Amino acid sequence: MPKTKKLTVPDFKSRKLSREKLVMVTCYDSSFARVLEESTVDLLLVGDSAAMTMHGHDSTIQADVEMIAIHTMAVARAAPNKFLVADLPFLAIRKGMLAGMEAIERLVKAGAHAVKIEGIRGNAELVRHVTESGIPVMGHLGLTPQFVNAFGGMKVQAKSAEEQDRLLADALEFERLGAFSLVLECVPADIAKKIAAALAIPVIGIGAGVDVDGQVLVLQDLLGFNPGFKPKFLRQYLNGYEQFIGAFDRFGADVRAGTYPSKEESYQG
Ligand code: KIV
Repeated sequence: MPKTKKLTVPDFKSRKLSREKLVMVTCYDSSFARVLEESTVDLLLVGDSAAMTMHGHDSTIQADVEMIAIHTMAVARAAPNKFLVADLPFLAIRKGMLAGMEAIERLVKAGAHAVKIEGIRGNAELVRHVTESGIPVMGHLGLTPQFVNAFGGMKVQAKSAEEQDRLLADALEFERLGAFSLVLECVPADIAKKIAAALAIPVIGIGAGVDVDGQVLVLQDLLGFNPGFKPKFLRQYLNGYEQFIGAFDRFGADVRAGTYPSKEESYQG
């Protein structure tokens, strides 16, 4: 029996009004989706971070629509009671309206209830068309990893007053065009607080301080599978890397010692 009721789009505004924080975790496969399905996490994101966490690339730029669709199908099958957001990967919506709508159709038919879009500048017409087509859009601003080359690396964004004004304007524009929520990544906590206060839709932060309407973390980071990755905002809830190595080593030791499998673990004729 799932611990939480499946969210719907109207719930997002109610959750903001009732000040009940939203909890989002990335997920890419059915094993973890099955676990998350039984947790109190509110919603799952098939992020384009799949290119890094699942495929070993060094940025999200290598993700494409087919990659996100395959991971979305796996998660949707195993977590039918979670609201599921799929990322529109690098350039998927920058090759014209038709190509963009085909990418979105692929992800929604794969099982996504909403799509996440990095950046609003140059995407406004498409975002309006998508929301008016009945497809919920989650905006993503601040450190948008698909812009890593333009930013000159993965750096905290919106430090100057001018950049903060621009960020607030972009956030308001996402809301005006019908987005139902917004991710704010790696921005100073005071501007994140100001944006969350200015918007009627919930702001979900990652490296954006506590005064927003919810938080998201990448599953592998949260579970400590990425020992070298220690940004300021990250809290690890498990030392997954060492615990999993320990389990594999214990299996190896049992096999080598001839103590696995036991008689009870063997079929008898
Ligand atoms: O792809 C992703 O994992 C993301 C989250 C960090 C918000 O976009």
